[in-house]
Formats: sequence, structure tokens, C-alpha cells
Amino acid sequence: MSEHRPSPFPVLRDNSVCSLIQAAEDVYQVRFKNRAANAYLVRGKSRTIMIDVGLSSNYPALLECLEHVGCPPDKIDMVILSHEHLDHIGAAYHFGGRTIIAAHRLAANKIMLRDDFSMLRKMFNEPDVPINIDIWLEEGNLIDLGNFRLSVMYTPGHTSACISLFDHEKGLLFAADTLMPGGVMGGVFGSGSISDYIQSLERLKGLNSKILLSGHGRLSDTPQDDVRIALQRSHGLLSDTAQLFDALDARSNFEPIMQSVRDLNKLDDG
Ligand SMILES: [Fe+2]
Repeated sequence: MSEHRPSPFPVLRDNSVCSLIQAAEDVYQVRFKNRAANAYLVRGKSRTIMIDVGLSSNYPALLECLEHVGCPPDKIDMVILSHEHLDHIGAAYHFGGRTIIAAHRLAANKIMLRDDFSMLRKMFNEPDVPINIDIWLEEGNLIDLGNFRLSVMYTPGHTSACISLFDHEKGLLFAADTLMPGGVMGGVFGSGSISDYIQSLERLKGLNSKILLSGHGRLSDTPQDDVRIALQRSHGLLSDTAQLFDALDARSNFEPIMQSVRDLNKLDDG
């Protein structure tokens, strides 16, 4: 497996809060050491964007990383939010005003309505500050940065509002919580669905992706393997869910099923 060979991705900076890692030319991952999701900077020839920004409490560390690569927030044209969970979007309000903020329309709706249940506000204990979404994205939108062209793919399952971004030419797949290295899945939350998840993974499997840039964990240069494992697990989760319903019906002991759900995502994440 990939974690046994040295990482091909250089670490540019590392402290107690986060690491700054180069994923490709002009593409950087900020990997936080707490529960915050990864933030990505893509510096194109004509436009510069971020994909997710992590928790608001990490904003000072994020700023230091951006400054390290000579890209302070006033040079960032757009922040794209992968979905509504606050571990991905908590720091977004710091960018409001000067930077355009975009999310899938279903995520935008939840965020604009300040739907704390959907955004997991209790879980992440983020300040109750509004985040305004300027552009409501849809499947098929294209974000053209000059030398990067990112297609917006609607990939629901983890929640109803998840998007992935794919650069066909460079094979860069920003999959947020839909697909993680080693086939780890982000789980199915309130508005999500395991069936939608499987369909989204099938779509990601069909891409000619070379680097997987996920919402959590390391970068991966084996996205094809990762998606294959995630698909196997998601089918396992689907059948476990079916068994769980049967068990509830029969009022029988469903501890073995609960255990298998707990075991499902234990593997990997180096
Ligand atoms: Fe999430």
C-alpha cells in the first residue's frame, strides 16, 4: 500500500497546528492536525482559488501558510466550499467581502439559512457567524483559472450537498469527504444517503484521476485504488444497513452489525 513508500509530496512547512504540502505545481494542501478539514490553494495563471478553509480557530495558521507561498487572502479570488460541514467552512467568514464564496446550491441554502443541525455546529463548536454564499454552484459548472479548469461534479451521499472538483487535463480530483486515501469514507450524515454515495463513487471511478486531494488525511497518488476500496466498503455498508433494518424488525440482537459498521472505516489513513 502507498503508506509504505515515501510520500512523493514535499512538505514545505510544518508546525504544531498544520503542515503545508505541495500536491502539484501551484497546488497546495494545508493539512491541519486537529479536526479541521484540509484546505487547498490552487494558484492559476488568471485566478486563484481555495477549496475549503478549515475551522475558524485555525485561521491564523492558515494565514501563515498562505503567506509562506506568497498568496495572502486578498489575492484569493474565490473560496469554493465542498459541502456545508463546519470543519470545512468554519473559517470562510474571514474571506467574506473581498473574496467570492461559492458552494453547491443545496449547501448554499443550508449555510444561508444557518441550518446548524446540517452544518454540525454543536460538533465543531464554531462561532455563530453568518457565511454568505455569493455563487450557488451546480453540476457541470466550470471554474477556469487559466491553466487549471475545474469541473464541478455533484457527488451527494456524505450529505445531499457535496461536490467534487476535477481537472481533467491534470488528473487532480478534489473529493472532500466523498473519497479519502485508502478508500476511507466520510460517513453518511443527516441529508446523505448510502445509495447516492455509491453512485457518486461510481462516477469518480470513471475519471482518469492521478492525484486525490481529500477533505481529510494525506494526499494520494493512487486514486483508482482508493475509489475501488471505497466502493467495496460502501456496498458493505449498504448490506449492513439492510441487515440493521431486518434486525430492528425482528427485535433481534444487532450488535454484530453495529460492530461491522464501526469496523468499516478503521483501515488506513497514514
Ligand atoms: Fe463532512
